[in-house]
Amino acid sequence: MSFDTLTHRTGTGSTKWDMMQPAFGISPDAGLPMWVADKDFEAPDFLQKAVRGLLDRADYGYFCDTDSFHDAIAWWQETRHGWQIDSDWLFTTHGLGNAISLTIQCFTDPGDHVAILTPVYHEFAAKIGRTERVVTELPLAVCDGVYALDFDAVEARMTGKEKMLLISSPHNPAGRVWTPAELQQMAAFCDRHDLLLVSDEVHGDLVFEGHRFVPTHMAVPGIAPRLIAMSAASKTFSVAGARTGYMVIPDPDLRARFARFFRGFDISPNLLGVTLTRAAYSPEGAAWVDQLMPYLQANRDLFCAGVDEIPGLRAMPMQSTYLAWVDFTATGMDRAEIHARLQDSAGIAATPGHTLGTGGESFMRFNLGTQRARVEEALARLSRAFADLQ
Ligand SMILES: Cc1ncc(COP(=O)(O)O)c(C=O)c1O
Repeated sequence: MSFDTLTHRTGTGSTKWDMMQPAFGISPDAGLPMWVADKDFEAPDFLQKAVRGLLDRADYGYFCDTDSFHDAIAWWQETRHGWQIDSDWLFTTHGLGNAISLTIQCFTDPGDHVAILTPVYHEFAAKIGRTERVVTELPLAVCDGVYALDFDAVEARMTGKEKMLLISSPHNPAGRVWTPAELQQMAAFCDRHDLLLVSDEVHGDLVFEGHRFVPTHMAVPGIAPRLIAMSAASKTFSVAGARTGYMVIPDPDLRARFARFFRGFDISPNLLGVTLTRAAYSPEGAAWVDQLMPYLQANRDLFCAGVDEIPGLRAMPMQSTYLAWVDFTATGMDRAEIHARLQDSAGIAATPGHTLGTGGESFMRFNLGTQRARVEEALARLSRAFADLQ
């Protein structure tokens, strides 16, 4: 396969393509969907082969082989990130959104607060609200043009009702790869405020040259009694439709507490998710990611440099992920005007930054997980839509 091969996902039920019209009023025939964090590349051969194997067996009955699934997860985490996990620490969930909601419900009560470092993946706040907990926003600082921690500056926002800090590591949006020192600062903050640290590491495989993702448990082994980590193959391999994620709980007491809670939901791995994750977390999968990353990096370089040439627009340097974060402050335009230019003039569906919380108001998030030709087209459209600022 080539990452340049154009895929046509309209009419397949793809959220990213088929919901663009209802959500943005942009026709999928003419529009560029750069919102939902889903890549457009066709599935690689090793995934296709695994699913064909499933079809050929013509047997979709109950299955018991979760050991090889757990082994694949442990193998992946160790070989890609140097993190040694025990398969007893794993819980399989219905995607990561499910893992986040279950974690909130298990370890906090309605009315409790959950702290998040904004701007951050909009579903964090949504899930906290849907589970009848309350968001405490701790806005990130910006240092040398990228997001940074300044816990002193946000200390006054803590109400005393917080029970948990939920982080995206690496960070969605903008892809900050938190350093071990920063993860240690977060852990110290959790110690100070007696919080659980929930580390969503789903973007951890997608890190660009010059940066290294370190799982929170490795960066701060002593945080284990407060740590719930989670990840999935979904973002890396574009298999989010299989709705399979996993949680890693190294501490026996936290694990026992979660296990008791989890039992009541009767959630068990599904055959497609297990098949795809096992095939992804393999030497072929590792080789594919090693080819994917230079492609995404070239998309990033092209897009961010191109955006920076458009007067009024500035892309935040991306250290990981395919979610570019563009600041429109210097256009002097209000949100309605920026959205109108993107949607009506450019035909681009991008995620509005204000939905990611305080600090995101003047930004838009653009998904670059697509063919180079589409990234080039997006740049050309953006240049035209803001040409009057030249
Ligand atoms: C940080 C983060 N966590 C979780 C998710 C969603 O995971 P899932 O599709 O498995 O629910 C996303 C999707 O964009 C994400 O960026």
